[in-house]
Amino acid sequence: MPEFPTYRIAVTGSNGQLGKEFVRIATHHPRFQFTFLTREEFPLDDNKKIETWLNRNPVDIFIHCAAYTAVDKAESEKEKVFRINTSASGLIATQLSKNKTRLIYISTDYVFDGTSASPLNENAITNPVNIYGASKLEGERLVLHNNPSSQVIRTSWLYSSFGNNFVKTMIHLMRERDSIRVVDDQKGSPTYAGDLAGALMQMLESDHFIPGIYHYSNEGETTWYKFAEEIKKLTDSKCQIIPIPTSGYPTPAKRPAYSLMDKSKIKKDYGLQIPAWQTSLAYCIELLKKQGV
Ligand SMILES: NC(=O)c1ccc[n+]([C@@H]2O[C@H](COP(=O)([O-])OP(=O)(O)OC[C@H]3O[C@@H](n4cnc5c(N)ncnc54)[C@H](OP(=O)(O)O)[C@@H]3O)[C@@H](O)[C@H]2O)c1
Repeated sequence: MPEFPTYRIAVTGSNGQLGKEFVRIATHHPRFQFTFLTREEFPLDDNKKIETWLNRNPVDIFIHCAAYTAVDKAESEKEKVFRINTSASGLIATQLSKNKTRLIYISTDYVFDGTSASPLNENAITNPVNIYGASKLEGERLVLHNNPSSQVIRTSWLYSSFGNNFVKTMIHLMRERDSIRVVDDQKGSPTYAGDLAGALMQMLESDHFIPGIYHYSNEGETTWYKFAEEIKKLTDSKCQIIPIPTSGYPTPAKRPAYSLMDKSKIKKDYGLQIPAWQTSLAYCIELLKKQGV
């Protein structure tokens, strides 16, 4: 008999930033048998395929990372965004509730409107300012309503050595240009996807599943401009970074001006130690350098 119970875990969005971090750390967690699901294996716009997969493949824990994440494009594809981020999440939750399967739904700081002046805890009032945020918030509500064994993990400004993100975009732009303009009046905290995947595994290893909403990002506060300045420092770039207001960089989707989250609850309930954003950024940039990015 094994000393500890073993668990079957399915992870959606396995080709996304967070999904790939789970792929990377899966071998460090032998108690967990992972199944990684790509878009083709688990298409969120196909209810029949979702139901069929979940009926045929019982698991103990379902980590739902996949989502429609193109925040600006979402403004012109409302129906599609809600089908993928909201309806599919609700269906997954309903199906999983039949076997009391634990569901971990990854959500976003974009559920907030940015009018707060202090870090937002899990009870703070939500009021999304764009379609993506609204679809994720409705997804949260359905997940928590349809499956009592659900955790909603809100995170912010996610980046990784995988996929496309702010860090990789900045590195490329700083190489190509003499100067770049970056918004300096949106405050929040970056999250290294490797840290988030590690934190979620630490929570699962604790065998202590507490349903509800949790906030997770790296520690500390910054703006996109200061984030870019740190990337410049860590890559020895000579590019000039010019701070601009949001009004100087119009985008189809509005963003919250302030979305810093209070992480007290996740730290208290699970004893997590969360790295400062600068520490994790330095780690990720070292990884990228090793990959020749
Ligand atoms: N990125 C951020 O800054 C950020 C911030 C806060 C919260 N989040 C949340 O964190 C989670 C992970 O984000 P991420 O940055 O890892 O996202 P990502 O890199 O954009 O990956 C999203 C994944 O979802 C899959 N996907 C998209 N549409 C799909 C569909 N119709 N059917 C099935 N799969 C589909 C994609 O498949 P393909 O690989 O085939 O495209 C991809 O693997 C998401 O729930 C997101 O809402 C992200």
